Amino acid sequence: MLSWDEEITPAAKSPQSTQPLQSSQPAVQPALQVAQPALDQVPPLASLARPGSAANAPVADPARRMNAADKRIINGSTDVNQLVPFKYKWAWDKYLAGCANHWMPQEINMQRDIELWKNPNGLTDDERRLVKRNLGFFVTADSLAANNIVLGTYRHITAPECRQYLLRQAFEEAIHTHAYQYITESLGLDEAEIFNAYHEVKSIRDKDEFLIPFIDALTDPDFTTGTTANDQKLLKSLIVFSCLMEGLFFYVGFAQILALGRQNKMVGAAEQYQYILRDESMHCNFGIDLVNTIKMENPQLWTPEFRDEIKALFFSAVELEYRYAEDTMPRGVLGLNAPMFKGYLRFIANRRAQQIGLDVLFADEENPFPWMSEMIDLKKERNFFETRVIEYQTGGALNWE
Ligand SMILES: [Fe+2]
Ligand SMILES: [Fe+2]
Repeated sequence: MLSWDEEITPAAKSPQSTQPLQSSQPAVQPALQVAQPALDQVPPLASLARPGSAANAPVADPARRMNAADKRIINGSTDVNQLVPFKYKWAWDKYLAGCANHWMPQEINMQRDIELWKNPNGLTDDERRLVKRNLGFFVTADSLAANNIVLGTYRHITAPECRQYLLRQAFEEAIHTHAYQYITESLGLDEAEIFNAYHEVKSIRDKDEFLIPFIDALTDPDFTTGTTANDQKLLKSLIVFSCLMEGLFFYVGFAQILALGRQNKMVGAAEQYQYILRDESMHCNFGIDLVNTIKMENPQLWTPEFRDEIKALFFSAVELEYRYAEDTMPRGVLGLNAPMFKGYLRFIANRRAQQIGLDVLFADEENPFPWMSEMIDLKKERNFFETRVIEYQTGGALNWE
């Protein structure tokens, strides 16, 4: 018999529980608050069988069995509760790969990081600043990403195999937030300073303020797809999230912590970031596949004006990320400096642009950090079991009799 050790307590009824992005400090910039759909706007059960945002789609005959060819990524009219027959096998394959890569933060031993951080001579002031600013961005960035999926993107996507991947991705974002919290806690950092950095540190706040309008667009309860203007809005948000947030804004931070690890410093944190980088790389690739399939199914959205808008966003994002690199590395540290990142960001931006069918944005950029691609190709089976702690609990509070 299965029993639970922990008592189940009723969920809090506070309206705050549905507003995860509200700060505990009142004097913060309101721009960082994402619009939340009200609970009374949850669609009735009957409408869940049809995509919520495809209000104008013809109603399929419920007695007729589903044909995969009828599925669409957006504005589809097939039953979103029927996962098969598959049409978008790439989405299902990514879901399976995400599950095969499952990991948890507490499986990684943080002891050496704790000793290094507590040793007054363990790290330089610049290295400590880098770690704190780095966590300051990531510790809330993955909550933004999760909220964007759960409260925004998910309901506008009408292909169930893509929704299945988004559910997996949302959980991975929770694991990433857990990992950043776990590192913050392990090192005994000031949690208020780290978690509120996205309000207090300009270079971090600027990146998040760039993203917020694209989250708000999708979480607005009145927003539905089905017109060219709104479908372009959705496509733009998907591009911003996959190519610019997960595909660009994360990369200075990842390179910094992985560079520390390569010098045998903060090795536990570096290992956590390696797993996160692998997940994010798949999120980014899934988002790009999603964007390209929407483009293919809706070629009228990909106008010259729309492409120009996207290019302008790419240029702004590279500039913002470069300013973040300067702020986190005011002087050279770990053999890295901000100007090296200018080349790296341009190299990545070119790659993302090409992946969604745009021309390169910057001429002749090469990757100054080729070792970063090795980090993405991490094989869990090879590394993971060598470094994980021996005793850990995966069953939580479950008891079997
Ligand atoms: Fe993440
Ligand atoms: Fe992600």
